[in-house]
Amino acid sequence: MTIKILILHGPNLNLLGSREPEVYGRFTLTDINNKLSEQAAAAETAVQFLQSNHEGEFIDAIHEARNWADGILINPGAFTHYSYALRDAIASVELPTVEVHLSNIHARETFRQKSVLAAVCMGQISGFGWRSYSLGLQALLAEIKEKRA
Ligand code: DQA
Repeated sequence: MTIKILILHGPNLNLLGSREPEVYGRFTLTDINNKLSEQAAAAETAVQFLQSNHEGEFIDAIHEARNWADGILINPGAFTHYSYALRDAIASVELPTVEVHLSNIHARETFRQKSVLAAVCMGQISGFGWRSYSLGLQALLAEIKEKRA
């Protein structure tokens, strides 16, 4: 049966490509989504993308994912560092969730080194540019497939 994954991109990630390229790379969000779509197709997986600059939209999407998704891949952007509401949403739906970051948040400003979401996620992948998403998707699919077997 096809695995279904919700892929969430947080605030300001719509500007990828032109936003601080020395930190986040030159890939646009469309480039990243195209890479992930290819990876998903090769793994018989259906992906749905959402980028939002609004916390509530993220929370609503996570609640709705309960009804259709098998897992969530999320780059929460700056929500990572302070959104207890997002943390509670992830904990509430009990879907396997992987947190990813383009940059290595542990090597950056002090406020970025803490994730309030990591504890309710399966794991976190940080610092590999667009490949963080790809590695995150790989880990999430492996986990879901193992549980199904
Ligand atoms: C980010 C890191 C966050 O600290 C930042 O607010 C972002 C992007 C990353 O992918 O490296 O928006 O999540």
